[in-house]
This record gives sequence, structure tokens and C-alpha cells, in this order.
Amino acid sequence: MAGEREHPQRMADKVALVTGGSRGMGLAHGRLLAEHGARVVLGCRDRRQGDEAAASMRKDGLDVVALALDVTWPDAWEEAIRAIERSHGRLDVLVNNAGIMTLSGIADCTIEEWNEVVAVNQTGTFLGIKHAAPAMSRSGGGSIVNLASAMASTGSDRALAYQVSKAAVLHLTRAAAVSLAPAIRVNSVSPSLTATDMAQALGKDWLRQRTTSYPLGRPAESIEIARVVLFLASDEASFVTGADYRVDGGALAGGKGSAAHRTDVD
Ligand SMILES: NC(=O)c1ccc[n+]([C@@H]2O[C@H](COP(=O)([O-])OP(=O)(O)OC[C@H]3O[C@@H](n4cnc5c(N)ncnc54)[C@H](O)[C@@H]3O)[C@@H](O)[C@H]2O)c1
Repeated sequence: MAGEREHPQRMADKVALVTGGSRGMGLAHGRLLAEHGARVVLGCRDRRQGDEAAASMRKDGLDVVALALDVTWPDAWEEAIRAIERSHGRLDVLVNNAGIMTLSGIADCTIEEWNEVVAVNQTGTFLGIKHAAPAMSRSGGGSIVNLASAMASTGSDRALAYQVSKAAVLHLTRAAAVSLAPAIRVNSVSPSLTATDMAQALGKDWLRQRTTSYPLGRPAESIEIARVVLFLASDEASFVTGADYRVDGGALAGGKGSAAHRTDVD
């Protein structure tokens, strides 16, 4: 297997659940964790897509399966964690990756849109932490990595529900890190625009134009976010908890050619 030959086994013997794991960044986190020796479960809203993603990784010799998991449903979380403990015997890592974005600003954001975005990004992350933590404790500890966003740290006139829900993820990360220490570490990763379906939906030209002002001058690739997720998930991050890692090509440090750099939408 190419991945195993190329990489040392930084995740050997660990069981990892990645939500929203059938495409985009979730797929990259799942593959990289598995390449480093983890037994990976992709939690997927679309089970068929999840099964296809897992089957294609198994063809590369990786230990990956999929299960149905809509992160907004407490019952679905309970069932998923029970199923993982039954099939894999333990849970060591949770990557709360599932997320949705809508673009309305404060004047246009309907209550339905607000509730939908908060349900997935904020409540979904809360439910993940709440339901995974007891299983991790039974396994002797673990690591939770939440996907926030560079948008959580700057105000924008677009994507109101998204930016607010991601800011909540930053604080949820801190609160959970304090509550669950020392057995379970909880951290977040804040990407800027990354070349996935979510960002491509905004238009390829828009994406290119927006990211040229980043100091690194381009959108991230999913693998570049996944590498930081892997670090936080692994024992190499043994003294890191309650932290947010900005993986943003320098976007939040400032923008080239503009005194007032804007990170929206990412
Ligand atoms: N792409 C970017 O520019 C960017 C930037 C910053 C942060 N992020 C965050 O990174 C994470 C991954 O985003 P992506 O770019 O891969 O997006 P994506 O749209 O490609 O993938 C999102 C995944 O979440 C899943 N999902 C949505 N609602 C769900 C639900 N209720 N239950 C379970 N799964 C659900 C989708 O099925 C999909 O697999 C998200 O949390 C996103 O907010 C993305």
C-alpha cells in the first residue's frame, strides 16, 4: 500500500471517526489518517456515497468503512458510537468535519436558514463531542478535532449564520477542552478557502480572485488541512488542547495590496 510505505504509522491502533467523510476535506482527513495506520470510520449523511468512498480506499489497502450519520440527530450519534464500539472495540479520534455554508447576510438570512446552518455546524459539533467523549474515556482517552473556519475570527457582511456557527465552534472547543482534560484533547482547525465542493460552489473565478490576496496567493488543497488534522489527532500533539490552528495561507495575517484584507467567504 503506497500510503503505508510512504508514511510512518503515526496513528497505529487508533480508531477514528470522521464526519462528513464522503467528500471534500472529510475524504482527505479519512484517507490520511488511514494511511498513517488508523482504522477509520467515515460518518456520512449519504450512506451510498460513504460506502463508495470507503470501498475505494480499501482497494488501496486502507482500513476504512462507512456508516450513516446525520450529525444533527442525537439518536444517530448514539447509534453510530454504539456501532463503532461493537465493530472496532474502541474510539480514539473524532474529526467533527461535517459542515454547510449559506451566503445570506443579516438582512436576508431567514430563520430557517439560520437554524439549518446552526444545526449542522454548531449543534452537530456539540453532539459529536457529547456522544464521543464517553466512548473515548472507555478507550483510555482521545483527541477531538473540530473544523472551524478563518471566517470565525473576522466579521463579514456575508454568510452570517456560517460565520457565527463557526465562531461558536471555537468556543465549544475551548469549553470542551477544559471539561474533558486531561484524558481527551479538543482542538480546532480554521481553514481559509479550500478547493472543495463547498468553495467551488462559489465559482472557480471568484475563488481564484479571492485567494490571490492571501499571502500564499491561492486556495488550500484539502490535504494541506488534513495534515494539520492528523497532527492534532496524533500523540505528537500530546500537550495541545483548547487551541485553534489557522491553516489559512496567511489570510488572517493580512492581505497583499490591501490594508483591509477580507477573508469572506471561507
Ligand atoms: N472549503 C472551504 O473553503 C472551507 C473553509 C473553511 C472551513 N471549511 C469547513 O470544513 C469542513 C469541510 O468542508 P468541505 O469544504 O469539505 O465541504 P463539502 O461541502 O465538500 O463537504 C461537507 C461534508 O459535510 C457533509 N454534511 C453536511 N451536512 C451534514 C449532516 N447534517 N450530517 C452529516 N454530514 C453532513 C456533506 O455531506 C459533505 O460530505 C466544513 O465544516 C466546512 O465548514 C471549509
